[in-house]
Amino acid sequence: MKFSTALKVNQEIDIRNSELKSLYEEVINCNKCALSKMRNHVIFGEGNPAGGILIIGEAPGRDEDIQGRPFVGKSGQLLDKILAACGFSRKEHVFISNIVKCRPPDNRVPSPEEAKICMPWLIRQIELIDPKIMILLGATALKYMAGNDYRITRVRGKWLNIEGRLAMPVYHPAALLRDPALKRDTWSDFKQIVFKYRELVNPQHYSAHV
Ligand code: URA
Ligand code: SF4
Ligand code: URA
Repeated sequence: MKFSTALKVNQEIDIRNSELKSLYEEVINCNKCALSKMRNHVIFGEGNPAGGILIIGEAPGRDEDIQGRPFVGKSGQLLDKILAACGFSRKEHVFISNIVKCRPPDNRVPSPEEAKICMPWLIRQIELIDPKIMILLGATALKYMAGNDYRITRVRGKWLNIEGRLAMPVYHPAALLRDPALKRDTWSDFKQIVFKYRELVNPQHYSAHV
């Protein structure tokens, strides 16, 4: 890369990071829906915004609400294991967020109204992070990203084009904990993600298992 090109790329990364930081400040102070009254933390998301992969879950649960971080409970531990098997980490390759940023009481599914009110934050995150690959974790992420007509059992493992961006729907880790038989399909889906990551982001990407 020529020096002037590298400089321009660095400037773009600086601008993106400072815009993400101001978005973060806005989101953690959000009171736009009723979930704001019951939460301990707003979970903005975490990971490397320049890693190339954006993972979208459903909503924070109890552990996430306590710690203020996404996917830190049982589902999160399984997610981290799957990512590690792909050679991916939060530090380097992925950013993780959710359809709604505050915990719904008793871990219920977020209502369509809550999702609708919160979605502009996710849309803004997608614009700023500009991921090469999005991973949609489970039925709720699929519904609000792709539309009501999509069923996770039918479209998991199939690349979708969502407003010009590549997205792979996969089962939610909580579904894998309930039904371990789904792990087989999930592993096949994540292998496709590793192949695509090598194609689009880093041909040298190392994974011990793929
Ligand atoms: N489940 C989700 O969908 N998101 C989290 O952050 C944690 C569990
Ligand atoms: Fe705001 Fe989303 Fe939290 Fe509702 S769930 S208060 S819209 S950040
Ligand atoms: N059922 C769900 O609710 N989610 C999945 O990911 C799979 C089955």
